[in-house]
Amino acid sequence: MSELAARVGQTLATLERIAQDYSPAVFASSLAAEDMVLTDLILKAGLPIGIFSLETGRLHKETLGMVDRVRERYGYEIALYRPVTAAVTDHIIKHGHNAFYDSVELRKECCNIRKVEPLGRALTGKKAWITGQRRSQSSTRAELSEQEDDAAHGMQKFNPLADWSEEEVWEYIRGNEVPYNPLHDQGFPSIGCEPCTRAIQPGEDVRAGRWWWENPESKECGLHLVDGKLIRIKKVA
Ligand code: ADX
Ligand code: SF4
Repeated sequence: MSELAARVGQTLATLERIAQDYSPAVFASSLAAEDMVLTDLILKAGLPIGIFSLETGRLHKETLGMVDRVRERYGYEIALYRPVTAAVTDHIIKHGHNAFYDSVELRKECCNIRKVEPLGRALTGKKAWITGQRRSQSSTRAELSEQEDDAAHGMQKFNPLADWSEEEVWEYIRGNEVPYNPLHDQGFPSIGCEPCTRAIQPGEDVRAGRWWWENPESKECGLHLVDGKLIRIKKVA
């Protein structure tokens, strides 16, 4: 068995265990490459794991287009969670449309309104959630474990691709003809909101294009943070 096939087998077994032991479980998809691997695994195996995306209102058209690609390919409708309109309007009136460039605080406020609060809604009533995070994506993820106790949301959090390499992600995508965001072919290895993501140069860190004007330590949007700190403090298993 090839190394990738073995990894796929392990990941599928993890997803099956989550579906069985932590129902209802959901998968948070940013519609980027890693998340398309998990989408393909979940939907082809017919696992009872709901897939949702946080539609921040500032995504690239290519990213939103992936919702349509998933519908076409798998006949599955990804659930979209949007920010509360009044909170967005308030923030814009007070700070402007592009305040994320003005300070880390305002950037985090925008992420809170557009990502963190909708995430809380998406996770309500669930026993576990799944992400596509990998250890080698960034220094802040070097300690990432496959299963975490997410005390903030009161549930288990799984990162089934934690030990996958970027090469393995692409080997899986190409080998299985998984649809992927066309921005990946235009210098975007990591994709978030449009105004907060840019293409990188060869040799640059894969997350160098995310919030590129900030220090590397602050480059997390709060989906995986609580009170400004990484919540991966308690490893399970
Ligand atoms: S981020 O925290 O810096 O934005 P990144 O883009 O690397 O995260 O994605 C890491 C994981 O967070 C994804 O694999 C996915 O599980 C989740 N995630 C990020 N953005 C979204 C989104 N817009 N909708 C749903 N899940 C997301
Ligand atoms: Fe706002 Fe940028 Fe965060 Fe998106 S990534 S929610 S636009 S600050």
